[in-house]
Amino acid sequence: MHTEYAQRRQRLMAKIGSGVAIFCSAPPAVNHADVEYNYRQDSDFYYLTGFTEPDAVAVFVPNHEEHKFILFVRPRNPEAEVWTGYRAGLEGAKEKYGADIAYDISELDQKLPQYLEKSDPLYYTFGRDQELNLKIIQHYQKLLFSYPKRGTGPTAIANASLLLASLRQIKSVYELEKVRKAIEISVEAHNQAFHSSRPLVFEYEIQAEMEHHFRKSGAMGVAYPSIVASGINSCILHYVDNNAQMHDGDLLLIDAGCCYDYYNADITRTFPVGGKFTTEQKIIYELVLEAQLAAIAEVKPNHPYNHSYDVAVKVITQGLLDLGILAGELDKLIEEKKYRPFFMHGIGHWLGLDVHDVGVYKLGETWQNLEENMIITMEPGIYIAPNAKAEEGQPEIHDRWKGIGIRIEDDVLVTATGNEVLTRGVPKSIAAMEK
Ligand code: GLY
Ligand code: MN
Ligand code: MN
Repeated sequence: MHTEYAQRRQRLMAKIGSGVAIFCSAPPAVNHADVEYNYRQDSDFYYLTGFTEPDAVAVFVPNHEEHKFILFVRPRNPEAEVWTGYRAGLEGAKEKYGADIAYDISELDQKLPQYLEKSDPLYYTFGRDQELNLKIIQHYQKLLFSYPKRGTGPTAIANASLLLASLRQIKSVYELEKVRKAIEISVEAHNQAFHSSRPLVFEYEIQAEMEHHFRKSGAMGVAYPSIVASGINSCILHYVDNNAQMHDGDLLLIDAGCCYDYYNADITRTFPVGGKFTTEQKIIYELVLEAQLAAIAEVKPNHPYNHSYDVAVKVITQGLLDLGILAGELDKLIEEKKYRPFFMHGIGHWLGLDVHDVGVYKLGETWQNLEENMIITMEPGIYIAPNAKAEEGQPEIHDRWKGIGIRIEDDVLVTATGNEVLTRGVPKSIAAMEK
């Protein structure tokens, strides 16, 4: 996989120009009661190196004659490796990961200045590692003091993640393969969950079945904590207790996806536990589906990101108006955001190495245009809380609507001419949701 990472670094170097960029690994794995929890590499760091160990720093200096890609890593240590796993070490950093030179991480302070003193700006993302944040500031300040004498060195610090985000947003062939695999496994799990869900089953049984399928299929695990929310739990956006028993008449909202080789899937389906929608559930489901299909139709290249949200809002607000859940004039209701108590989140997000992947949505007043090989989720929903109260000037909410929570979420690839719904393997038509 050398070439994929080397190509990414090439593209980054072109953006760095005469600057220097520093990326650091994610903080060490959580250690609780002497047990090490799974370590997950920082996505920027992984994107550029493929290196999965903690305590590492990568430096990129395009202007340096020999050392353009420098890795600081943990040295090999047979005693420590017995406890926490094999290390690449300095040799591995060069041979396996393609660094021009590798140093012991303990030498960072000593070796770093030579790579900073001729470059401007310094790209670095102030992150969770406060100790490193401080170190970088100290190096920067020191170099700034001697700038008048030397005439070179960083005068400005810029955000390294933003520099990378525009690259990470456009998926390569290799990345698309990984996302498709994560989606394939997640689609299978959703279809299986649909068949296993019936009255008296507990939410955690469905969660267990899905997560078993993820791991059995070679996924690293869940992309995010699985949401298996029946009945009124479907109105809680981040419900993760998953401990209720399902009953006939309940809806079941499942928002779950796996992470395969660091790439994620993110899928939501909502269906009736007992096999048949109630009249009200069916009406709201149709509305969410109509909004989602309209939103997906707006996913095409050179088209602003926010169009999907705007059409979804329009469909949902018109629908709530037709049902008498809202009252007034459509444009005014939209302008005053009267749909917000029922559709309170965005239309979707970039998807990739992170579930909520990097990428700008809006620059000043201008919305980001969609481009070929971006992946975005489309996930409108309507949630009418069991204790929903009408806003001032709005009609009382009839009990028959209360406790209905519906979201439909697909992962959508922007293609040259339009889009491809990558998660189409999980049915979502009204007919398919009933059994
Ligand atoms: N499951 C997280 C999300 O849909 O954004
Ligand atoms: Mn999502
Ligand atoms: Mn989701």
